[in-house]
Amino acid sequence: MNNPRNRVFNLLAASCLFFAAGSTHAAEPLALQKIMKDLGKNMQAITDGISREDWERVEKIAPLIADHPQPPLAEKMRILRFAGTSMGKFKAYDGDTHDQAQAVGRAAKSQDGPGVILAFQKLQTSCYNCHSEFRKPFVAHFYGNKDAVQ
Ligand code: HEC
Repeated sequence: MNNPRNRVFNLLAASCLFFAAGSTHAAEPLALQKIMKDLGKNMQAITDGISREDWERVEKIAPLIADHPQPPLAEKMRILRFAGTSMGKFKAYDGDTHDQAQAVGRAAKSQDGPGVILAFQKLQTSCYNCHSEFRKPFVAHFYGNKDAVQ
């Protein structure tokens, strides 16, 4: 019964099960997801800075949003394949977020409270614009529909 051939077979069967189980796990989160989480945190930090009229802090955080890190090249290629002909639009939304975050920073530098708030609203709209168009199909494409949040 317990001859070496059976043992090899059992080992093979076990590793097949292992791989089968592995493939049912949710896909690894993209680097973009971490970048987005950090954008969210920095937005909260700006809200807090506005409440405290701490314009210096707002000025420091705004560039972290404007010049957020980029995903690695291989992931960029995957995103490019996903977006296809809409890639220009996807990039334009990111550019808009960049510009609006810079405007927040400029207003904070001149200690212009209402200006910061106005620019911050435009910044939020720039996040929203990309999310409302791309997030759902993006999440469905990279992680499967069950994780779609919008
Ligand atoms: C060019 C498109 C684009 C722009 C602009 C954009 N996002 Fe996103 N965002 C996405 C995509 C795509 C996802 C889904 C990523 C994923 O789940 O891997 C996402 C997901 C998120 C999430 C959820 C992350 C999680 O925990 O799963 C947060 C938070 C977020 N974005 C914050 C922001 C903020 C704040 C801004 C603006 C300052 C912003 N995003 C601008 C495309 C964008």
